[in-house]
Amino acid sequence: MLHRRDLLGAFTAYALLAELSSAHAARRARSIRSWLDRQDALARGLASGTLDSEVWRREVEALGSEADVERLIAEALPSPSARAFPTDPARRILRYRDAEGRPRTQPFAVLLFEFERTSVIPHAHRGMQSAHLVVHGALRARTYDRLGEAPGALLLRPAGDRRLEPGHVSSIGPGRENVHWFVPLTPRAATFDVIVTGLDPDGPEYQVQPVDPLGATDLGEGRLRAPLLGFEESARRYAIR
Ligand SMILES: [Fe+2]
Repeated sequence: MLHRRDLLGAFTAYALLAELSSAHAARRARSIRSWLDRQDALARGLASGTLDSEVWRREVEALGSEADVERLIAEALPSPSARAFPTDPARRILRYRDAEGRPRTQPFAVLLFEFERTSVIPHAHRGMQSAHLVVHGALRARTYDRLGEAPGALLLRPAGDRRLEPGHVSSIGPGRENVHWFVPLTPRAATFDVIVTGLDPDGPEYQVQPVDPLGATDLGEGRLRAPLLGFEESARRYAIR
């Protein structure tokens, strides 16, 4: 039979556990907000030109490696899953609330990409930078530097060819590693992406330019002339079937 003293002891222990658990939840919520605040500052610096594009990449990659990505996904308000093209991975836009519970306005977008046996086609970007943190599965990430433009083509130089595992980050800049694509190496893989757009004051908000690095002409000294492609033609050449 339980005595009143035992009941009081059990109640006190329960109350203490509840308090510890709610303190832990509050601490995690604060650390998520602080992570997003740091992304805010980096995105604003990049957009205003006070932060160099390569510094943004380094800083965002470092933030990626310390991210509590499970919590970042769990606390997000996700959009419905959608695909821009049938060969694209499914994506959700993740939004967050501020300390008062209102939707945050922030100068960067967060997307969760779920890869199946599809592939992102090789493409260049204008007006944006992005960083991609692997959440689960493994991906082959291939990148090319963008050296310039030619009629109907981009001038490229091979930059990276890496196997990415959970916790690894791949990012792009306006020149260095501007062309990229991901090939899933496991039946399922996902990336958590931070994207800043509107970086080209004279251009559209952002641009995705499918390009054909594997069908490029070798110009010597590591330079390639890679034809620009339409999305459908690119998917025919590169999508995994
Ligand atoms: Fe991209």
